[in-house]
Amino acid sequence: MRLERIVTPSTNVHEFAEATGNMAVTIGGPMADPLQIVADLLADAFEQVAGRRVDPVVRPSDRADAQANAALALSKELGRPPRELAQEALNLAAKAGLLEGVLSATEIAGPGFINLTFANSFLGGLLADMADDDRLGIALTSSPETVVIDYSAPNVAKEMHVGHLRSTIIGDALVRLHEFLGHKVVRENHIGDWGRPFGMLIEHLLDVGETQAAQELSVGDLDAFYKQANAKFKADPEFQDRARARVVLLQSGEPETLRLWQILVGESARYFNEVYRRLGVKLTSDDNVGESAYNDLLQPVVDRLVAANLVVESDGAEVVFAPGYTNRDNEPLPLIIRNSVGGFNYATFDLATVIDRVENKGATTILYVVGAPQAQHLAMCWDVCRMAGWVPDNVKIVHVPFGNVLGDDRKMLRSRSGDSVKLSDLLDESVVRGRATVREKSAELPDEEADEIGRMIGIGAVKYADLSNDRIRDYVFVWDRMLAFDGNTGPYLQYAHARIRSIFRRAGVEPESIRAIVPTLDEPQERALALRLLGFELAIASTLETYSPHKLCTYLFDLASDFTSFYEACPVLKGGYEATRDSRLAMCDLTARVLARGLGLLGIDVPDRM
Ligand code: ARG
Repeated sequence: MRLERIVTPSTNVHEFAEATGNMAVTIGGPMADPLQIVADLLADAFEQVAGRRVDPVVRPSDRADAQANAALALSKELGRPPRELAQEALNLAAKAGLLEGVLSATEIAGPGFINLTFANSFLGGLLADMADDDRLGIALTSSPETVVIDYSAPNVAKEMHVGHLRSTIIGDALVRLHEFLGHKVVRENHIGDWGRPFGMLIEHLLDVGETQAAQELSVGDLDAFYKQANAKFKADPEFQDRARARVVLLQSGEPETLRLWQILVGESARYFNEVYRRLGVKLTSDDNVGESAYNDLLQPVVDRLVAANLVVESDGAEVVFAPGYTNRDNEPLPLIIRNSVGGFNYATFDLATVIDRVENKGATTILYVVGAPQAQHLAMCWDVCRMAGWVPDNVKIVHVPFGNVLGDDRKMLRSRSGDSVKLSDLLDESVVRGRATVREKSAELPDEEADEIGRMIGIGAVKYADLSNDRIRDYVFVWDRMLAFDGNTGPYLQYAHARIRSIFRRAGVEPESIRAIVPTLDEPQERALALRLLGFELAIASTLETYSPHKLCTYLFDLASDFTSFYEACPVLKGGYEATRDSRLAMCDLTARVLARGLGLLGIDVPDRM
């Protein structure tokens, strides 16, 4: 692979990709990332040194902007001192003119690192390319997948708990990120809307009266309804008999029973949708593919497993054993497909989800954004699906688990009365607190605007607190901390964005008017900000690699911090700095756009003023 052409600061990254036939670039890898560009250039030189393609191992460095570490590992293989190899690679690259216009300094350091300092003009050119691009330099994927994302999934006639909140928020961010990269995303809300509890719920509905019941459910008094039904079921044998008979009617599809069931489902869904709307997530009723949607697939699941010789009888139930799963007594753990009274299980529905997603939806990636305690259940289901031959090798099924939300006391978050937290109350409180926060900051805003901004701050704070923690860990839900204007919080990032927008308002400059400017980057803080901005695509790539939104949060927080250092060190509008004004405004604008885009991909609104 030879470079036809030397990269110049004005080279558009897309042209660069074409000119070089550069794989990392053309497959939709980081395009504006200077580390990647230099790595590709050095790879050619190292190839000549090693006689095979090697990764030049280019990493950020404290000594320079970056360092290439490949010579150390190659030294053993080639039996030559690493410094010598590093020097040879560097000479080859320099002779081919590869680094011209890209680097301002190079140095062989320590045992054999190549220290690399980017030319300001090179970085400035990449920034201008990024500013010129609505997608901020982020390429669409060249290998689009059909990604089914299973998230939220509350249960009918039960309050959504904070676990569902986490699933909803994390799932929504993953939906947005995948869509942005050009994948086809299928959102699926696997609502728990079928099974034995519906016998008692329907009977309770009849006892309470349809209208009354519908009213309780639609305002989200789901837990009370469920608890009353459950209490009756425990205390009253006559009610128990009715409930059992009702389940049979439901499963046989008796029309009147289905109608009553539909009231429960419809009213609960209405409440869930209200929570989604207030949260600003993309889920709507169209995305509801509850357990009941798989009813017609359950018998085929069993038939196909029987045909594949996988089903065995165990204590009257039909089960499948997947190797490697044992219970506490070290006995093989069965996956129950049909219980002893002929009912299908939670697992049977999940086997059906895989068949439907692979065969009917054409999924190539399936993500289950489900709490960590279900890890074994899901893994067993997928193993069984693979044993049955339902999952082609190219289909990736991934559990995206998450930890618990804890209260101040480090125990599971509960309401003051000790019940599970009602999500609509939690959202109400976030909006009230968000509003108080705006009022504190800017008393002069008109009421209506303060309401709207307060909503963005409150909801954004809740979402950001969730997303910014490594999802696999538990986190403690503390209002004051998540609403603080300092630290890694939603309001801090929203404020960083609004503050930049206010700079433009003060200057009376339209951001569009300075977007073609190539920033000069004369101060170290400005260069640091430039490197951070150019790392945006890598931040998104690594976020998606492990489905970890907190990586994008960390990046945005670092960006906002770098911006603060820049803004302190580099006067923008101050008198006497006219020569650098537009160049620095261009840095401000690009920072604001990356913040807005990044927060947008997390599902967080960004007000223009606060
Ligand atoms: N409804 C379940 C619960 O509340 C979550 C379902 C998750 N999705 C799945 N395909 N199993 O725990």
